[in-house]
Amino acid sequence: MKINTHYTGLSPRYLFHDIDLRVKEYLTHHPDEHLLRMGVGDVTRPLPRVIVDTMQAAAEELAHADTFRGYCPENGYEWLQQTIIDHYYQPRGINFQTDEIFIGEGAGSDLGNLSELFDSDNTVAIPDPTYPAYVDANRMAGREIVLMPCLKENNFVPELPKEKVDIIYLCFPNNPTGAVLTHDQLRLWVNYARKNHSIIIFDAAYEAYISSPDIPHSIYEIEGAKEVSIEVHSFSKSAGFTSVRCGYTVVPYETGLQGMWMRRQCTKYNGTSYISQRAAQATYTPEGRTAVEANVAYYMETAQMIREGLQQVGLQVFGGVNAPYIWCATPHGMGSWEFFDLLLNRCKTICTPGVGFGHNGEGYVRFSAFSRREDVQIALKRIRTEISL
Ligand code: MLT
Repeated sequence: MKINTHYTGLSPRYLFHDIDLRVKEYLTHHPDEHLLRMGVGDVTRPLPRVIVDTMQAAAEELAHADTFRGYCPENGYEWLQQTIIDHYYQPRGINFQTDEIFIGEGAGSDLGNLSELFDSDNTVAIPDPTYPAYVDANRMAGREIVLMPCLKENNFVPELPKEKVDIIYLCFPNNPTGAVLTHDQLRLWVNYARKNHSIIIFDAAYEAYISSPDIPHSIYEIEGAKEVSIEVHSFSKSAGFTSVRCGYTVVPYETGLQGMWMRRQCTKYNGTSYISQRAAQATYTPEGRTAVEANVAYYMETAQMIREGLQQVGLQVFGGVNAPYIWCATPHGMGSWEFFDLLLNRCKTICTPGVGFGHNGEGYVRFSAFSRREDVQIALKRIRTEISL
């Protein structure tokens, strides 16, 4: 056999796996230490009661012959697809057929798997820094990647590529910088893609965290976007489904890719669990919506606490206003990993080193507002004591 040699071009370990290993190593030498976890963007609030009740009821249905279900449709149950259209897209004046909404197990896998629809002979534009899976998935496929710098100087918003690119990844609100795009800024990308016959893969995993009224939640709010955009959503960050697993990907007919994605999913995906899909549907009930909004508001209060706490120390911070991530410049020109180590050793706090998101993340670290409130309070206190600027 011959291995896929493109794997040799990847960094040997995925970012969050690398951090886990370093933390494990630290804990082998300090077994009794309680570490304050502000690294990976994993939720910490318990699931809303209405969601858990719904999952229990769905599980109970499976215990009875007349309500038992076997395989779910590969692209999801129509009742969930229609609920998403009715509650998320129609209020924004956007319409879809249920066949254009593909229910999946979360944004992460679809963002990687979508890459299979495209020939390896495509140029891919990816912001730098970025969610590492976009780069990894395309490197695995051997595609040429054009990195688009997102710097303090451009407010962490990439400029349109000068050359023609075929596939463009955008994530707004952004992970890791917390930056957002206005309608006018997003329109530039849609127009670029229409002119250049490119496709935009729009990662909307954090749209529930938008609080400013002038920021688009969905790329389909922009005229003409259906022809050139695939949009990926997750219930993980909004409804706390990181363990439940459910998300959805919209592949409009106008892209010409809906049939291919259906074909891919039917071959390689056996459907999202019935229980998870019922749980996702429950997030759109009045009770579910209220509970989800309360969780989002809670995390955004935590984000504000982190922003202000770091600013008080004199650190320069970005994001955390329309996004659950705070992007923090390291002090004294320290490298990202150097500051990561300092926070770990002196403050017993885990963050994510910015350089793990790409070359232009060097000199930054990211704090997650999904962290436990009590941990954040202690971490900020320690940072005040330990870090002098
Ligand atoms: C993170 O950046 O912390 C990740 O987004 C976690 C994830 O894979 O969703």
